[in-house]
Amino acid sequence: MYEKKYNDLVLDIEKINEEYKKSTFLWGLKPNKYVTFIPKIIKSGKVLDIGAGEGRNAIYLAKRNFEVLALDISKAAIEKLKMLAERENCSVRKVTEDILKFHTNEKFDVVLCIAVLNIFSKEDAYNVIEKMKFFTKPNGLNLITVFTDKGIKHKNFSFFNKKELRDRYKDWNILKCEYYTKYEIHHRPHRHHICALLAKKPKLA
Ligand SMILES: C[S@@+](CC[C@H](N)C(=O)[O-])C[C@H]1O[C@@H](n2cnc3c(N)ncnc32)[C@H](O)[C@@H]1O
Repeated sequence: MYEKKYNDLVLDIEKINEEYKKSTFLWGLKPNKYVTFIPKIIKSGKVLDIGAGEGRNAIYLAKRNFEVLALDISKAAIEKLKMLAERENCSVRKVTEDILKFHTNEKFDVVLCIAVLNIFSKEDAYNVIEKMKFFTKPNGLNLITVFTDKGIKHKNFSFFNKKELRDRYKDWNILKCEYYTKYEIHHRPHRHHICALLAKKPKLA
């Protein structure tokens, strides 16, 4: 079994692939609420969706004039995303890769990272955030959601405290930083406390 170790966190890629293969749509087909704000802020542009999963967010934006590159470490997730994009008759570029190893000279108007960063050690999560900022054009947007440290804990996740995400974007214009609770039914009923941050890169950064 191939296991990728992030300090004390372990990501079992085989297990993730199996989950994606057996389930219909693990994260549903509805886009994240904050993703739906993006077309209200910018009308078109290039999007990088990090940890895109089955593509609910990538496809929502691809259907609304955005040119999307969806990246995920799971081959099974990317295959499902491809199938969904075909079904929805829209075009999404895809790459199966570890974001920690990924590099490109391309710059994006929007970089998304929805429900991914908690899988990493804090150090790696911060590295991903720095990459997101680097991949973003001046005036471009970053959208991130993370689980906060309020409420339930899980040994395989790293949690963010209330101001941690905001602190990473001190040098950007924060358009939204909101906290909410989400009830989930996948595996077994549970809830997550979430922080969503939408930030705009300064023109001269
Ligand atoms: C909870 S899912 C979220 C999927 C999607 N963002 C959504 O909101 O529907 C997290 C995703 O991150 C992907 N992932 C985990 N580690 C990754 C890495 N190192 N590089 C790229 N993707 C990764 C997983 O395969 C999984 O599809």
